[in-house]
Amino acid sequence: MSQPSNRVFSGVQPTGNLHLGNYLGAIQKFVALQDSHECIYCVVDLHAITQPFSVWGGPEKLPGYTREVTAAYIASGIDAERHIVFNQSQVAEHAELAWIFNCVARMGWMNRMTQFKEKAGKDREKASVGLFSYPALMAADILLYRATHVPVGDDQKQHLELTRDIAAKFNNDFADQISKLGHGDEYFPMTEPLIEGPATRVMSLRDGTKKMSKSDPSDLSRINLTDSADDIAKKIRKAKTDPEPLPESEEGLKDRPEAENLVGLYAALAGCSRESVLADFGGKQFAEFKPALADVAVEKLTPISGRMRELLDNPDHVDSILQDGAQRARSIAGQTMREVRDIVGFLS
Ligand code: AMP
Ligand code: TRP
Repeated sequence: MSQPSNRVFSGVQPTGNLHLGNYLGAIQKFVALQDSHECIYCVVDLHAITQPFSVWGGPEKLPGYTREVTAAYIASGIDAERHIVFNQSQVAEHAELAWIFNCVARMGWMNRMTQFKEKAGKDREKASVGLFSYPALMAADILLYRATHVPVGDDQKQHLELTRDIAAKFNNDFADQISKLGHGDEYFPMTEPLIEGPATRVMSLRDGTKKMSKSDPSDLSRINLTDSADDIAKKIRKAKTDPEPLPESEEGLKDRPEAENLVGLYAALAGCSRESVLADFGGKQFAEFKPALADVAVEKLTPISGRMRELLDNPDHVDSILQDGAQRARSIAGQTMREVRDIVGFLS
């Protein structure tokens, strides 16, 4: 198979409470890449189950959460006919390549992953082995499709560096076989992360030093994609701020995490730069800025939540989108795995 030159892959975990950080850091970018790239977007349920039931909801909640992420993709404007939208566990090759990558990646590399440390918490002995080796599965997701670009939020940067390390070590360890089988000198590409724009790290509305997250116990800390216009306006009204007016330039956002976050949100929602937000609102009080931010948020998000609700009212339709996507994903993933099996020396 020839190496594609502009293939995008990304994924979101079906763990409930999809929020504005997921939308601005990831999904909105997925939508924007559709005209320039061949895109593959995945609902990564194999990743979700690396954590305790209390985080991913357990088997009763998982189907609903999987459909929720799928609906968010489609409602945000991802075209599942032109591109591929699918559910990770329906394509067995992800787990198969992840195993091989578990044998390529080194313990020392995994030990440096900060997200594992955060998610495992104090009692690391009780974390699942899957949570520890999760970055090998993420590398498998991307490299099964030999994706060249991966749009994600800032928190995934380290995992993408590891993906490149795994690709490089595989290419190097199996170099002779790769060239003998006619794949040149690099089988897996050095995937580029796409982490840019004003909202690569959306912070909690209650604490500008903490990431907005699905698992924050306070619902006021995040704007959920399913929130009503009233909820959105209320959460922005109650968002933590400092007593100063907004600064005139980006310099003035330093050491003002809440102000920086809200300005970044406005810019990402309105599709403009932080400077242009400050050109309009510099010197004004939050009492004036917050209602304007609520208006752009409501304008952007309520059509999406409306379409999500319609899709979720018809789960069979959502499931059929995923089945169709899985079939198309499998044809690419199957081809990669046939080649990888040959490269590694497994009998066919
Ligand atoms: P997850 O919910 O962990 O599966 O994340 C899905 C995508 O959303 C990933 O690309 C994350 O980097 C991105 N993401 C999650 N939380 C945030 C946040 N607070 N700000 C920006 N991006 C985020
Ligand atoms: N680890 C990512 C997250 O928690 C989700 C993910 C899994 C992913 N596989 C991926 C993102 C492949 C990009 C590409 O957000």
